[in-house]
Amino acid sequence: MNEWHNYHTNKQQQLLKPSYTLNFAVDYLLKKKSRLANYTAYDLGCGIGIDTLYMLKNGMQVTSIDIDPTVGAAIKQQVQQLKLPDNFVKWQFQELSFETLSLHPTQIINACFSLPFCKPAYFSSCWGTIKNSLSSGGIFCGHLFGANDDWKCNPDMTFHPREQISELLQGFDIILLDEEEYDRDDITGNSKHWHVFHIVATKH
Ligand SMILES: C[S@@+](CC[C@H](N)C(=O)[O-])C[C@H]1O[C@@H](n2cnc3c(N)ncnc32)[C@H](O)[C@@H]1O
Repeated sequence: MNEWHNYHTNKQQQLLKPSYTLNFAVDYLLKKKSRLANYTAYDLGCGIGIDTLYMLKNGMQVTSIDIDPTVGAAIKQQVQQLKLPDNFVKWQFQELSFETLSLHPTQIINACFSLPFCKPAYFSSCWGTIKNSLSSGGIFCGHLFGANDDWKCNPDMTFHPREQISELLQGFDIILLDEEEYDRDDITGNSKHWHVFHIVATKH
């Protein structure tokens, strides 16, 4: 059993809403276009698929990616229950890690609380893949962790000081960049100091 499986089982028991950053991005797009039916999107580190389902409900064609292969079947069940128009299910799952990420050109990349779990040695190539695959005007929405985060001692995770966030977002117009620090339990009930960047940005 992979280490993320328990996390996903826990999460399935909670009442969950789509992420603030994805909501923000969808509202932004809907102000410009009334329908998002022709949009293609990736949900990176999709977990149990809350954001995936929200994008599908908004008419997008979504590829969900996660290192945990067990989430694919769980999301598939929920996608079937969505009863998309004409039974045309515009969804696929790929078991893939950030360390070996490969993406087709796309208009939206959502990565909610997931990219910090990319190993530091691979983050640069992962971010390069994300940036290159976004079309001009395409949107990145998601989170990165800051240098004051309690998990910063974990050598398998990636953290960014504020200056690096600005560097990463070169070539983007920033629509939302909120930096937040707060104390809240993590999903296993351990207290934790969080240092989070909430990001929504469109590629030039
Ligand atoms: C904190 S969860 C967030 C899940 C989901 N995006 C959400 O907001 O509910 C992090 C997700 O990233 C996935 N993940 C962790 N390390 C990964 C890696 N190296 N490559 C791809 N996915 C990874 C986990 O399996 C998990 O689904």
